[in-house]
Amino acid sequence: MSPQNPTVQNPTVQNPTATTPAHGLFTTGTPTDSWTVRTALPVDYRVRTVPNVLDPANPALARAGAPAHGGPRRRLLVVEAKVDELYGERIRAYCTAQRIEHRILVLLANEQVKSMAAVFRVAEEMDRFGLARRGEPVIAIGGGVLTDVVGLACSLYRRSTPFVRVPTTLIGLVDAGVGAKTGVNFGEHKNRLGTYHPAAETLLDPAFLATLDRRHVSNGLAEILKVALIKDRELFGLLERHGEALRSTRFQHPAAAEVINRAVHGMLSELQPNLWEKTLERAMDYGHSFSPTLEMRALPELLHGEAVCVDMALTSVLAARRGLLDPVECARILTLMRRLQLPVHHRLLEPGLLHDALTDTVRHRDGRQRLPLPVGIGAGIFVDDLTPHELTRAVHELHSAAATLTDRQADEPQRRSANADQAA
Ligand SMILES: NC(=O)c1ccc[n+]([C@@H]2O[C@H](COP(=O)([O-])OP(=O)(O)OC[C@H]3O[C@@H](n4cnc5c(N)ncnc54)[C@H](O)[C@@H]3O)[C@@H](O)[C@H]2O)c1
Ligand SMILES: [Zn+2]
Repeated sequence: MSPQNPTVQNPTVQNPTATTPAHGLFTTGTPTDSWTVRTALPVDYRVRTVPNVLDPANPALARAGAPAHGGPRRRLLVVEAKVDELYGERIRAYCTAQRIEHRILVLLANEQVKSMAAVFRVAEEMDRFGLARRGEPVIAIGGGVLTDVVGLACSLYRRSTPFVRVPTTLIGLVDAGVGAKTGVNFGEHKNRLGTYHPAAETLLDPAFLATLDRRHVSNGLAEILKVALIKDRELFGLLERHGEALRSTRFQHPAAAEVINRAVHGMLSELQPNLWEKTLERAMDYGHSFSPTLEMRALPELLHGEAVCVDMALTSVLAARRGLLDPVECARILTLMRRLQLPVHHRLLEPGLLHDALTDTVRHRDGRQRLPLPVGIGAGIFVDDLTPHELTRAVHELHSAAATLTDRQADEPQRRSANADQAA
C-alpha cells in the first residue's frame, strides 16, 4: 500500500499562507501558486497462524484479503516452482473445493532471478487474468524471493493491488512474509528496487516446513537468532535448548510454535511504529549492515540468512571488543551459530569488502552508520563511530575464534550424544 493510495480519508489541501478556506481549498483570496497537501493513510494488515491452510474444508485462504461478497470468487495464484511440485495438486484441489475460479502462474524464484523480469512476468499474468482492482487479491505461495517479487508486482500494478502471502520457508514465515517491504535485486545491489506494500493478509502454516531442506531451515534460524540477540533473550534460550531439534525436525517439534510466535512478535513490534522506515535506526537491521554486500558478492554461495549470520558473528565480536558484550556470552553466541549449522566467518570478509559494504550501508542509512550492536544478549544500541582499524581487528579476532570453534566442533556430536545418554 503506497502513501498515495486513493483510499485516503480526510484529505487536506492547503496553502500555507492561506487565511480563507474556499471550495475545500485554502486560498488567500487572490490566485495562488503554492499548495501543500497533507494526508494520512491508516494501514491495517493481518498476520495469523492458520494450520492446515490447504485443507479443502478450511475457508481461510479463499476469504483472505477480500471483503466477503456473494459473487463468484476469482483468484490469480503465483506459486513458486518447487512449491508447485510439492503442493501443486493440493493447491488445485483446494481451489476446486472452495469454488475459486483460478489461474496459477508457476514461477521459478531464487536470488539470481529476483529481478524486474520476474516482476514483469507476474504483471503480464495479472493483465491476462483481467484482475479486478480491489476484490481479487493475488495469492503468493512460496519463499521470500517469491513473496517479494509478487508484492512488488502488486504494488506497481494499477499503483496498488491487494495480495495475500502464504510463506512456505522459515525466512518467509518469520521475516519476509510478515513485513511491509517488497523488492528485487538491481545491479550489484540487493533489494535495491522495491516498495512498501504489505500483503492484506499473511497466513502462516508451519506444516510447509516439513519439506524444506535443512540448510534453508538454518537459514531461517539466522533471522530468528537476529531477533533473539537484539531484543529477546528468552528466545535465545529457546534456541539454545531446542535449536538443533527444531532444525532436525524441520520445525515439526513442540517448541516450534513458541519460537515462531516470539520471532514474529519481535519483528512486528519493531516494524509497526516505523513501517515506512522514517527512523533509520532500526533494530531489525541488525545483521544487515555488511551482509547485503557479502551476500551479493558471494552469490550463489551464501544464502541470505547465512550472510546475515556472518554479519552477526562479526558484530558480536565488535560488541565484545567494546565491552558491550561479555566475552563468555560472545562465545555462547558463536557456539549457538555453529550448532544451528550456520557460518560464522567467510573468506570474503576482508577490508576491501567491509569498506564497500559500510560505505553502501552509510548511504542507505542517509549518511550515518547507525550500526546496531548487541548489548549483552537481548538488547542493542546504535553506534556511528566504527573505524576501519577496529573492523579489521574484529575480523582477525573472529577468524581465530571461528578456527577454535571448528576444532572444538569436531568432537561436539560425540559429546552431545554422551550428554543425551546421561539425560536419558
Ligand atoms: N521483504 C522482506 O522484508 C524480507 C525479509 C527477509 C528476507 N527477504 C528476502 O527473502 C529472500 C529469502 O527468502 P527464502 O529464504 O524464503 O528464499 P527462497 O524464496 O529462495 O526459497 C528458498 C528455497 O526453498 C524452496 N522452497 C520454498 N518453500 C519450500 C517448501 N515448503 N519445501 C521445500 N522447498 C521449498 C524454494 O524453491 C527455494 O529453492 C531474500 O531474497 C531476502 O532478501 C525479504
Ligand atoms: Zn534479512
